[in-house]
Amino acid sequence: MTKSAYFITTPIYYPSDNLHIGHAYCTTIADAIARYHRAKDEEVFFLTGSDEHGLKIQRKAMEKGIKPIEYVDAIIANFKLLWKRLNISNDDFIRTSEERHHKVVRNVMQKIYDAGDIYKKDYEGFYCVPCESYWLERQLVDGKCPDCGRPVEKMQEESYFFKMSKYEDWWLQFIEEHPDFIQPASRRNEMINFVKQGLEDLCVTRTTFDWGIPVPFDEKHVVYVWFDALINYITAIKYGTNDDMFHKFWPASLHLVGKEIVRFHTVIWPIMLKAMGLEMPEKVYGHGWLVVDGDKMSKSKGNVIDPLGLIDEFGADAIRYFLLREIILGNDGNFSRDALIARINADLANDLGNLLHRTVSMIEKYHNGIVKNAGKEEEIDKELETLVKTTVDEYIKYMDAMEINNAIKGVWALIGRANKYIDETTPWILAKDPEKADRLQTVMYNLAETLRIVAISVAPFIPDASPKIFTQLGLTVPDQFLLKNAFWGRLPDGTQVQKGDPLYPRIKIAEDGDTIIGDKRYEGSSIQKDAMVNPVQKAETAPPQEITIDDFMKLDLRVAEIMDAERVPKTDKLMKLKIKIGAEERIIVSGIAKHYEAGQLIGCNIIVVANLKPAKLRGIESHGMLLAASDCDGNLVLADAPGISSGSRVK
Ligand code: ME8
Ligand code: MG
Repeated sequence: MTKSAYFITTPIYYPSDNLHIGHAYCTTIADAIARYHRAKDEEVFFLTGSDEHGLKIQRKAMEKGIKPIEYVDAIIANFKLLWKRLNISNDDFIRTSEERHHKVVRNVMQKIYDAGDIYKKDYEGFYCVPCESYWLERQLVDGKCPDCGRPVEKMQEESYFFKMSKYEDWWLQFIEEHPDFIQPASRRNEMINFVKQGLEDLCVTRTTFDWGIPVPFDEKHVVYVWFDALINYITAIKYGTNDDMFHKFWPASLHLVGKEIVRFHTVIWPIMLKAMGLEMPEKVYGHGWLVVDGDKMSKSKGNVIDPLGLIDEFGADAIRYFLLREIILGNDGNFSRDALIARINADLANDLGNLLHRTVSMIEKYHNGIVKNAGKEEEIDKELETLVKTTVDEYIKYMDAMEINNAIKGVWALIGRANKYIDETTPWILAKDPEKADRLQTVMYNLAETLRIVAISVAPFIPDASPKIFTQLGLTVPDQFLLKNAFWGRLPDGTQVQKGDPLYPRIKIAEDGDTIIGDKRYEGSSIQKDAMVNPVQKAETAPPQEITIDDFMKLDLRVAEIMDAERVPKTDKLMKLKIKIGAEERIIVSGIAKHYEAGQLIGCNIIVVANLKPAKLRGIESHGMLLAASDCDGNLVLADAPGISSGSRVK
């Protein structure tokens, strides 16, 4: 049986600069989708590349006093490095400066010209260099580019035009008959409105610069960079040179692009294809924009995030997981270090990392590392097994609908359930009772089996982790994680588990804001400082200077009673305490959640600095600070005052 083919593309990015986290976002989504389709045993062709011609690049190179090709070669080496380090599994990387692409573009140009859809005319209009986009005077907004708001340049030159207007009715009808072609639906409506205002013929050649592909029927001209760039999608699958390959993968299954270039991909590209007599792609998906701490990324603001730096610090899996889990595809999304670290600690280190660690440790401790299903099932096992099945079913449904974050959420609900299963089945108690030996083996089997299926499902998102999970479970790591193996009961009896390093080390934030991962320290976290988060670092700092009695008297130290305590969601260290100082009630947020359970705290009388200025932690206003002693091993004990009434002064 031949496999069904799946052709997925990212935009080919401009090598005018190094790529930032926004580009990494788009490529990560495409990679997750490509890996998912490989897991469905489809024959995937995943394409990315670089869009190298045009005025923008030519000017950049001129500024540096080097040739355009020299300029882009250096940057493209960085593109490739980034994709490698981010674990991007592209099957090809196309550069528009390559001979294979020049050939196809010249063929296409000639073909459309011969068909009479390209003609010569004097052009007068405006050009946005950053967008490489033509505009008419009436389309400008306040004299600026309607897409990006930047200044445009007036241009006047003899050019060749592509008869887009001729295809207006065809386009409207095509869109009506193919309601799923443009996604999400909001983008489709925008495009329909745009075309209904009237389609202009498109200028497709330039004469005032030469960094481009020469037009075959008039060599003074170079091909307009977008006309050139869009053709990359058919160059890579060998249009005109290998019919077998071309027909296997065309039409493309999915062009994934950012929302600002949906117009090029859903209006210009389909009309070009129509003029060439080729089929339309199945789907164009316009994803949203990533902003950083709520702000648009820009060089002038200095908030452009380099994904390579983040990968050095946190690893590829963590960045990928955050981008895929946190942002709803199609919507704009926010990148923040705080949210990234919270996700790594909660979802990766805690939920997934702990489940693996607990499971493998217990199998080693109780069964010398051997997994065996003793068949001693209880009701709760059926529930877990059913949840595994529905999770995989839903996962497939969500991934097919491109609701990646929902697919991930479902798997993490299963991980949460499995952690709870441990708490409910209490293996440590079963281990004490020889009559429960079979039951204990069954519990361990169920946990290992759940983890095996989790590892298969998360492989498209966190491809570093899945092989590690398999190795720790004692399973052979497959070349490709296949979804057809994500069925309950396939874990063989007698498997020998092997405890390894923690999947994801927990990340700590030092007092000065540095990020601490294992024994490495990274500068410059923006995370709000929490005095007690990292006692180890605190002990290393120089001894405090001496103070006077007056300084000391400035502190209003009081006994307070803890009325209520709860963990702050999405953190593993913060506890929100409701306290009473005499008659006054207050909230204090404190980094003690790793050391105390809520139940241990309620009713205790502790010592607090009552006149500390309020500060917000994780959005909660914390008023006051509690006192605690901590040692170099990270142990922490609250300073308490049992039996002394709340509100009393501490002197
Ligand atoms: O437009 N958030 O290339 P480009 C999310 N060469 N995605 C972002 C982003 C952000 N802040 N910034 C960029 C071009 N992207 C053309 C494409 S295709 C035939 C030619 C992503 O380097 C997003 O996918 O400007 C966007 O569409 C793409 O990078 C634009 O990259
Ligand atoms: Mg752009």
